[in-house]
Amino acid sequence: RDQAQFHPRKYLLALLDVFTRNGGRVYEKTRATGLNEGHPCVVETTGGEVRARHVVLATHYPFVDRALLFPRVHPKRSYVVAGPADRLPDGMFISSTEPTRSVRTIPDGDRTLLLVSGEGHPTGQEYDTEERYVNLDRWGAEHFGLATEYRWSTQDGSSVDQLPYVGTIRRGSDDVYTATAFNKWGFTNGTTAAEIIADAIAGRSNEWADLFDVHRVTVTQSAEKFVTENTKVAIHWVRDRALHPQRSSADDLAPGEAGVHREGTRMVAAYRDEAGELHQVSAICTHLACVVAWNPAEKTWDCPCHGSRFDHHGRVIQGPAVQDLERVDP
Ligand code: FES
Repeated sequence: RDQAQFHPRKYLLALLDVFTRNGGRVYEKTRATGLNEGHPCVVETTGGEVRARHVVLATHYPFVDRALLFPRVHPKRSYVVAGPADRLPDGMFISSTEPTRSVRTIPDGDRTLLLVSGEGHPTGQEYDTEERYVNLDRWGAEHFGLATEYRWSTQDGSSVDQLPYVGTIRRGSDDVYTATAFNKWGFTNGTTAAEIIADAIAGRSNEWADLFDVHRVTVTQSAEKFVTENTKVAIHWVRDRALHPQRSSADDLAPGEAGVHREGTRMVAAYRDEAGELHQVSAICTHLACVVAWNPAEKTWDCPCHGSRFDHHGRVIQGPAVQDLERVDP
């Protein structure tokens, strides 16, 4: 009851309109590369420096992690398929059991499409990512007569207690704020985060601020999950070095295949594209040196430790890493 369904792009365009009409300015294709806290703060970008009294790091995962969120934000990928269907649900639904299935409709010109999502898994820890789409296609066809036309995957982080981290990156400082770990509830959690941060900057109290605080102490409720998640990271760090490489060179890679091999002391991630060209990069993640794993559905190198992702040229496309993987000549 009382659901509200938003068209994400139209929603964002309306927000943008309000923002710019009130004097805000948006600079696209401008990457923030550094942050110096102070009065004012200085943000270094690829287009020059920006000075501001307050800065909000809203880069999904904060690109400078001074609140040390990386062991507390656990990245997950999830999958979406969409297309026309014989039957459409009269609302938005999400299953309460595993495997998760979420359904809703989307307007597409004069058609209404069915959107099915689910099949989530921790980033870099699933090797047959194509199968995830197949599972959603099959389920949608069986229950709704779905004929998939579109598919995509997403990534989001969650915290050990399932609540986002919203607030200042340092206790006692009101210069720099962040908001992350929306646990796949970006519309609602993003809006709440915006209200909390706007209130903090304007000096107003907000009843949700303590609950979402970046520095909250929820150890008693979440210690077990924290230990479990970070033990998995440690296991990956050690085991992936010991088990990799599963191949001795890239010579036997067929077009479309990828794998990790060792060249001397170096671990190399190699992908042979459909045209037969070999692309090689270092397999060591530039964040904290875990070994990346191939994601065949997205054709990316994904890190199992904290979810950084790189394209097959080694370019970083998702943090916490901010540096590209080093290229290795074939
Ligand atoms: Fe942290 Fe790769 S994302 S080691």
